[in-house]
Amino acid sequence: MVSKSDPKRWQRILSGPVLVITGAGLSADSGLQTFRGAGGLWRNYNPMTLATPAAFALDPKLVWEWYQWRRDEAMKAKPNAGHVAIAQLATRGQDCLIVTQNVDDLHERAGTPVNQLVHIHGDLFLNRCTGCDYSNREPICLSELPPSCPRCRRSPLRPGVVWFGESLNPAFIERVEDFLRRAKCGLVLVVGTTATFHYIIEWALRAKRSGGVLVEINPEETELSGAADLTYRERAAQVLPELLSF
Ligand code: APR
Repeated sequence: MVSKSDPKRWQRILSGPVLVITGAGLSADSGLQTFRGAGGLWRNYNPMTLATPAAFALDPKLVWEWYQWRRDEAMKAKPNAGHVAIAQLATRGQDCLIVTQNVDDLHERAGTPVNQLVHIHGDLFLNRCTGCDYSNREPICLSELPPSCPRCRRSPLRPGVVWFGESLNPAFIERVEDFLRRAKCGLVLVVGTTATFHYIIEWALRAKRSGGVLVEINPEETELSGAADLTYRERAAQVLPELLSF
C-alpha cells in the first residue's frame, strides 16, 4: 500500500486537489447490486425495459415499481468504510470533488458535503415532473402509480435519474469542468466503476494530465486500467480507509 511504503510521497499526492469518481462497486460493499458484474442488475433486468424514457412511456407503473424497489434497497443499505473514508477526505479541508455515478444517498449519509458531490446520473430519491419543472423528494404512494404532478396536475412524476439515451444535467457537467479547469490534481481516485461512459474516462484522464496520480480501486480490469498509475484489485471498503488515512 503506497500510503505505507512511501508515506511522504503519498502525503504530497494527497495534499493536492483530489478528483474522486465512484461507481456501483463502491455501494456493492453496502450490499447494493452493481449493474454489469456477476449478479448485477443488468444481468437480471433488461435496462431497455426499465431505464429509458420509452420504457417509462410504455409502462410507467412497471418502471416505478422497479425504482421503488431500488429505493427500498438503498434505504436498507448503510454507508460502508469506503464511503466514510471518502467523506473524511472531503471534510478535512481538502480541495476535493466527488463525481458519483451512483444514485443512492450513501455518500451523503457517510458525511460527504453536497457542495463537494456531483450525482452525475441523478438522484434515486428525487421525483420530477415530466411536464413541468416541479420536483420533490417525497415518498410516492404505491397505490397510485405513476404519481401525478401536484402542480401541473396533468403529467406523471418520474424518478430523478438519468436514463439511457438522456443527456446529463449541464449544471452538473459544468461543476466537474469548473473543477478540472481550476485544479491541478494531486490524485485521481477511480473507485468501483467499469468506466463505461466516455465522459467518465475523459474526466479521469484530464485530471491525470493536470498532474494527478491515477489510482484505480476495482477487483476487475476496466477501460481505465491501462492509464492507472496505481491499481488495487481489491474491494473499495478494504482499501480506502488505509489509503486515505494520514
Ligand atoms: N469494490 C470496488 N469495485 C467493485 C466492488 C467492490 N467491492 N464490487 C464490484 N466492483 C466493480 C466491478 O468490478 C465493476 O467494474 O464495480 C464495477 C461496477 O460496474 P458497473 O456495474 O458497470 O457500475 P458502474 O460503472 O457504476 O455503471 C455506470 O451505468 O447503467 C449505468 O447509470 C448506471 O451509473 C451506472 C453506470
